[in-house]
Amino acid sequence: MRGLTRRVLRAAGRRLSALSERLADDRPGEAHRRAVLSANAGHDMAADPDEAHYARQYLSLITPALETLSAGKSAKILDLGCGHGRLTIPCAEFASAGRVVAVDFSASALASLAAGAKAKGLGNVGLCEADAATFAAGLPPGSFDAALCCEVLYNVPEWRAVLSSLSKALKPGGVLVVSLRSRWFELTRAAAARDMKSARTARDAREGRFGDGDAWSCWHTPEEAAAAVTAAGLSVERVAGIGVLSGLPDDPFGRLLSPSRLVGDERCGLFELETSLASEYAGQGRYIAVVARRNP
Ligand SMILES: C[S@@+](CC[C@H](N)C(=O)[O-])C[C@H]1O[C@@H](n2cnc3c(N)ncnc32)[C@H](O)[C@@H]1O
Repeated sequence: MRGLTRRVLRAAGRRLSALSERLADDRPGEAHRRAVLSANAGHDMAADPDEAHYARQYLSLITPALETLSAGKSAKILDLGCGHGRLTIPCAEFASAGRVVAVDFSASALASLAAGAKAKGLGNVGLCEADAATFAAGLPPGSFDAALCCEVLYNVPEWRAVLSSLSKALKPGGVLVVSLRSRWFELTRAAAARDMKSARTARDAREGRFGDGDAWSCWHTPEEAAAAVTAAGLSVERVAGIGVLSGLPDDPFGRLLSPSRLVGDERCGLFELETSLASEYAGQGRYIAVVARRNP
């Protein structure tokens, strides 16, 4: 009898330790960080013509929001997960008497941004190589007039805490422009690859890993994205889809149309169509952008 109890306990112990190893493996850690760095490596979003089209769409939301700031050209702006700076540089040009703090954990992206700022003669961009969640957690309250965090948080497991830290770091009346990966994009990407398992994951969950990849990600509907921003203490002013009719060449929307395939007036035409439909089809783009203001 005692032998049986020992065997049962040993088997239970083995199962528990296997479970705890699996749980430990599921926690995004160094492998996740390396996967995100490698996914972004070599893709210079400030130089890519398709990304330039989407940068213009973000700027059509960001610029009017910056123009409402009482600080005006003296605004202090944070760009968390700035990448190669396709949004940082226009913000620095706007805040000509202010400052932009640009943060990323990719040293090569920051080096490219530094070169871009130098080429434009911009002396008001401060660079910081850091993890977005750690950096945001250490921000003093009320230290920025505006914050951007575009196409970053879908790979940041602590994304809700980051939203809350960004909210606190804004001055009353300050603005946040954030974007999250759309659920529709993950659904269509999986379906286009005939990967029904991933499509079911995109349908039923809101976070996880696709395929064998190490990168953790999360995805949302427009209502969920707006609710998360509201929960962080901000008032949502606009929810808009980025790229509701087009995509990058290697994504499902790119099969429909990529901006770089267009010439002359066609690009302006696509820009006008996508920005005019961005609120109506907020969940149908690659990303869902939310413009929000810190409650006074
Ligand atoms: C898709 S790019 C977007 C860049 C920029 N926000 C834009 O819209 O052009 C994502 C960037 O976020 C950075 N990133 C992702 N997770 C990060 C983290 N935990 N800490 C710091 N940077 C991060 C990546 O290195 C990459 O440069």
